[in-house]
Amino acid sequence: MTAVGVIRGTTTDRRAVIPLLRRLRSDEGQANPLPIWDELRALGEVVPAPWGGYFVTGFDACNQILRGRNWLVPDFAWQQRRPDMARWQEPATQEMTRTLSRLNPPEHTLRRRALGNLFDRGTLDAMRPRIAAHVTELLDRLDLQLRAHGEADFVTTVGDRLPVRTVGDWLAIPAGHYPHILDFTHRQVHAQELIPTKSELAVSGQATLEMRAYFTGLIADRRAHLGDDVLSDWIRYWDGQYPGDRAAADQMLYDLTMFITIASLETTATLLTNAVWFLTQDPARADWLRGHPEDLDDAIEEVLRYDPPIHLNSRFAADDTILAGVPIAKDTTVHVLYGAANHDPRRNPDPHLFDIRRRGAHLTFGGGVHYCLGSGLARLEARLLLAQLLERFPTLRPTAGPTYANRMVFRRITSLKVTT
Ligand code: HEM
Repeated sequence: MTAVGVIRGTTTDRRAVIPLLRRLRSDEGQANPLPIWDELRALGEVVPAPWGGYFVTGFDACNQILRGRNWLVPDFAWQQRRPDMARWQEPATQEMTRTLSRLNPPEHTLRRRALGNLFDRGTLDAMRPRIAAHVTELLDRLDLQLRAHGEADFVTTVGDRLPVRTVGDWLAIPAGHYPHILDFTHRQVHAQELIPTKSELAVSGQATLEMRAYFTGLIADRRAHLGDDVLSDWIRYWDGQYPGDRAAADQMLYDLTMFITIASLETTATLLTNAVWFLTQDPARADWLRGHPEDLDDAIEEVLRYDPPIHLNSRFAADDTILAGVPIAKDTTVHVLYGAANHDPRRNPDPHLFDIRRRGAHLTFGGGVHYCLGSGLARLEARLLLAQLLERFPTLRPTAGPTYANRMVFRRITSLKVTT
């Protein structure tokens, strides 16, 4: 489609967004997406995407989509109605479509109810001492590296490791398996990109095979040695739901264990590294927090608002509808841009100012029935890490900005060099 004008605050030129998307994925856009989000918002609240569908830039419109019952996640039924159905047939994509995040009610409601509130206050309190002990040990390693080399990489030493240790402990996964899990997680995620290339899909496909082999083996092994861990409880539950159909129970268990593991790793790692990046690049901020530990939770919320670990999420319209004045036909996809929404000046004034005490609004954990199940755990990890780090390393600071993987959907920081 070519440019034909403007309807109710949105451009109709589907190509207008292409250079912005390219820039968002580039090194420049990864390092500083804020001006690109502003430019996208300047195109409108609801911006046509080159392949059909729309990007949504405003806080209220994104919020409306995430919470509205007339917006659904793109599930198998939606994929089958697409003219480009083949695009969705890749094994890595199919694997993701079976998970909680791509199920709609009533199936989604049943599965989510079966899980309950995974990280309620009691569970988080019980996990706290172990997570704190992991933090201490990882910070000991950081200390050793800083003493030996004068510089260390926060991502590989702490940021990537705390989430896998936390979730690994919770699921009683042997520590020796963590490097393998991190490795296939980093590669599998390509399938969740907006428009993955052929080679990205191939990498993701291979990682998916490894992931399936790994979690299938883990579940079989646990079934043979049931204990009092979460995974054993899930096995008992799903075996009870499918008596005499081991394959069906195993499929449920695989979808669940695989998805919760991969949903929790890169996202939390990005939060932890971002927290260190934003809070230590300005010594005055770190000093302020050391003197005001009661502001730690607000600081973490500001990090989450400022740079969400997931850039984008998709829904489709269940019926013909109107979004921010733009008519949207049934089955059309909309891409919620979490970062653009969080930096909408109508919701968070002076949005590009990083302000620990802002108490602003954000959509970083999504909203509505799909609201992130692990938000409490991610926040706890960040809190325990920062509390120790600020006390133990009063002069810690980055030696350069972070480096990023070039991604549109899941943000990933590959390195953050720090010194004292
Ligand atoms: C900073 C870290 C994290 C961020 C930014 C994050 C973000 C998100 C987002 C944006 C969604 C989709 C919400 C929607 O569609 O409206 C989501 C869903 C989900 N997250 Fe997280 N997440 C994080 C950590 C975790 C952790 C630690 C776990 C588990 C241990 C987890 C498990 C899940 C699950 C299971 C879902 C699917 C929920 C559903 O579809 O019903 N996440 N998360």
